[in-house]
Amino acid sequence: MSEMPEPIKNPEIQFTKIFINNEYVDSVSGKTFPVYNPATEEKVADVQEGDKADVDKAVAAARAAFKLGSPWRTMDASQRGRLMQKLADLIERDRVYLASLEVVDNGKPFADAYDADLGEVINVIRYYAGWCDKICGKTIPADGPMFCYTRHEPVGVCGQIIPWNYPLSMFTWKIGPALACGNTIVMKPAEQTPLSALYMGKLFMEAGFPPGVINVVPGYGPTAGAAIAEHMDVDKVAFTGSTEIGRIVQQAAGKSNLKRVTLELGGKSPVIVFADSDIDFAVANCHHALFWNMGQNCCAGSRTFVEEAIYDEFVKRSIERAKNRKVGDGFQSGVEQGPQVNQEQFDKILGLIESGKQEGAKLGCGGKRTGEKGYFVEPTVFYDVKDEMKIAQEEIFGPVQSIIKFKSIDEAIDRANNTTYGLAAGVFTKDIDKALTIANSVQAGSVWVNCYDPGLIQAPFGGFKMSGNGRELGEYALHEYTEVKTVTIKLPQKA
Ligand code: NAI
Ligand code: MG
Repeated sequence: MSEMPEPIKNPEIQFTKIFINNEYVDSVSGKTFPVYNPATEEKVADVQEGDKADVDKAVAAARAAFKLGSPWRTMDASQRGRLMQKLADLIERDRVYLASLEVVDNGKPFADAYDADLGEVINVIRYYAGWCDKICGKTIPADGPMFCYTRHEPVGVCGQIIPWNYPLSMFTWKIGPALACGNTIVMKPAEQTPLSALYMGKLFMEAGFPPGVINVVPGYGPTAGAAIAEHMDVDKVAFTGSTEIGRIVQQAAGKSNLKRVTLELGGKSPVIVFADSDIDFAVANCHHALFWNMGQNCCAGSRTFVEEAIYDEFVKRSIERAKNRKVGDGFQSGVEQGPQVNQEQFDKILGLIESGKQEGAKLGCGGKRTGEKGYFVEPTVFYDVKDEMKIAQEEIFGPVQSIIKFKSIDEAIDRANNTTYGLAAGVFTKDIDKALTIANSVQAGSVWVNCYDPGLIQAPFGGFKMSGNGRELGEYALHEYTEVKTVTIKLPQKA
């Protein structure tokens, strides 16, 4: 943990306009939308509402910036890397401010925003800065007297649509590889949390990115988001959010110009705890796996499978741990859990808790709202959860743990895989054979053994099955942002 500075409890909101071509501009329609602090339910700002007309402007700017011969296309790759390093320096300079904005916008505890989110943001930009001049094609020993090689070229104008659970972190997961490969970007932040993304416009200019390379259009999904997904001049769309909207984005790509699509969607990730585990360690990790970020985590460990022999003790200790979780305003120090992001999410979570009670899951603790203002939900633990219950099937995206009993490893694998999702899985055991059997058998893009979501930005992250397609982070993300061009040159003779 880095040393924790004091937050800025009332951060001045400096940027509320659409960022296109290195300028902050009003929306074409003149409309704005309100942004609320989920801890107080008070309005923080009115933000210019981007729509199709604004997306068109942003795409045109991104297209011009991508033109052959443009400053961006002719820039040395190493210089791209330097711009990204400069950007990381500026984010570091403004880290307290940006982390404070995240608290106001999203509700998350300041310590988490500062340490985890902003730490990751800076690391991701630096990591991809390093890649800029290391993206290589191949020389291929093709038949003939031929010289054959590949170039890894940027895809072009990339539309990027992101959610509200990690506003700036998702922003950088998307721009990092896109910029490293030399693409240009039209970013749509989530309507709930546009503020940190808009502030980034200032930092792009300060770092020296040419106009049009990165454009940020805040707005709603069915308008601004849809305009990106169905745009005829967007070459690729990267989306993170619900599986429901992921389908719509993929269809929009199919109906328009067959733009490349990568999707990071929901999950119902299993964590399998064997009886040989250190029980306190497993309880602590399973708690963290679910409750981190108010449960608003695509890879939340939301089905906790526990082996029969330790089940009762595990349930008891998990309830104790959840009862001790400190809930409150994200600016209060020591708080582990802030509010849910908005009324819609709050209502969805309380509805699913109700369904859990009605379907006969046992409620160990929590189950209600807490406080009178703000979207705070009590840390909730259900046990004796059955696979067919709604709380074991649907993504809750809230502080609701579901503990499920299992008897054998084969049964655990079958039940873990019995979902349409496949984002992540965890296993706790001291037995290497069990760990590897689980790692090889679960259908999930990430498997964590004796840890959960360690947040390694150098390693790929993404989903099997309906949790999406494509990979983010690590070297793998670069493949999603390059077109491979094969160049073949006839030689006079074999040599
Ligand atoms: P969402 O999928 O509607 O929103 C995510 C992003 O997509 C936002 O930027 C939104 O404006 C945009 N969007 C919405 N409709 C669109 C459309 N028709 N075309 C293009 N873009 C569109 O997610 P929402 O409504 O915020 O949350 C609903 C549920 O989705 C949550 O309860 C949770 O289960 C899941 N979710 C999963 C996330 C993840 O990290 N995988 C993140 C956020 C939500
Ligand atoms: Mg939605």
